[in-house]
Amino acid sequence: MFLTGTMQINAAGHLEIGGCDAVELAKQYGTPLYIMDEALIRQNCAAYRDTLAALYPESQVAYAGKAFLTTAMCRLVAEEGLALDVASGGEIYTAHVAGFPAGRLIYHGNNKTPDEIRFALEIGVGRFVVDSMSELELLNELAAAAGKTASILIRVKPGIEAHTHHYIQTGQMDSKFGLGLADGQALAAVETALKMKHIQFIGLHCHIGSQIFDLKPFQLAVQVMMDFIQEIRKKTGALVRELDLGGGFGIRYLRDDKPHSLKEFIELIATTVKAKAAAHNLPVPKLLVEPGRSIVGEAGTTLYTVGTIKDVPGIRRYVAVDGGMTDNLRTALYEAKYEAIVANKANAPAEDKVTIAGRACESGDILIRDIELPRLERGDLLAVLCTGAYHYSMSNNYNRYPRPAVVFVRDGRSDVVVKRETYADIIRNDVIPPCFQQSV
Ligand code: LLP
Repeated sequence: MFLTGTMQINAAGHLEIGGCDAVELAKQYGTPLYIMDEALIRQNCAAYRDTLAALYPESQVAYAGKAFLTTAMCRLVAEEGLALDVASGGEIYTAHVAGFPAGRLIYHGNNKTPDEIRFALEIGVGRFVVDSMSELELLNELAAAAGKTASILIRVKPGIEAHTHHYIQTGQMDSKFGLGLADGQALAAVETALKMKHIQFIGLHCHIGSQIFDLKPFQLAVQVMMDFIQEIRKKTGALVRELDLGGGFGIRYLRDDKPHSLKEFIELIATTVKAKAAAHNLPVPKLLVEPGRSIVGEAGTTLYTVGTIKDVPGIRRYVAVDGGMTDNLRTALYEAKYEAIVANKANAPAEDKVTIAGRACESGDILIRDIELPRLERGDLLAVLCTGAYHYSMSNNYNRYPRPAVVFVRDGRSDVVVKRETYADIIRNDVIPPCFQQSV
């Protein structure tokens, strides 16, 4: 059976995560429910932090908050000594309210608004990752108005195509993110930044994509970026002090997925940076990585209750659960594939091939196609695995379904970190204009 982190099957034949029986969690908190294995998240943070520090002391791991962010998660990331990659005013606000040290925030985004930038300047985010020339000019102006200097990394498109779903590829030339190398835009931005009064040019950033299994594109990206650092030195005399390589390291979703070990990945990028620095006779830059999925992905499980079961004779059996594309948009967006366990009868033999359907008004709302599972009936609990990254963070209220709660589990205890939405939450921002009120 495919189990992750602290998962085990207990004496009752129930799935247990973080020492908590999933059947009990469903009773206590209802379903759908996002369950996060806190020990596994912390273990992943520590693995990144310690592996990188051992091989490359001048380094920093920044957790990519877009994968999963709540105020409690900000606290955990701060406790584990990581920096935090934020990509919107909302993410900055979450970190700020949680008391996350602003100096450890790295602020991304291809269209930061003036209000967002002002907010980021006000609380003192550590790094702005500048994505365009237009943003550079805006940032310099707003920093001047605030009487501050913004420390920046410039986001570069290294021109590398990583093998992943094309919606989550970002490093290639035809991308909305970053500034091109081949067309000279990245160099022009560096030259401009160096002349600006309210900008301090610190370094470069790139991110080639997400859920990448092949290590070669990461190595290529490092080489391209180090060559660019050399070019910058030659053409401007400026030293690039930090190199941020983004995220993208792939994880297991299916039992046959075989990602490389984290150590192999870190070793490869660390040795490539060092080798290139030596070849160019450059001081080694501070190295940053921004993992999201590989910190939280395998630590998340979504628990659903089985409802309607419908046979389409000779074709398939649809088993509908009480969630779907509203809590897991990845199936509809990327045709993502998942494994599942029947949490209340985890030891029962697989004897039925079924398709797990969501309950949204959309034919494409299918969670898992053709999966072999024990015979299911209404009320059974289905645990879909590896849903920690880009699930809660991409959840939505389509059909006005309230979003699920999120619980952290650890050592037999469970804590709500996001409350389940209520119907009242659903209409919280609805307004009936006064002129309508006579009409019912
Ligand atoms: N840094 C930057 C600048 C990013 O854009 C991303 C992800 C990361 C770091 C973290 O990448 P990770 O380690 O998680 O692969 N919604 C898609 C993934 C979109 C990734 C966006 N950027 C999905 O569900 O697969």
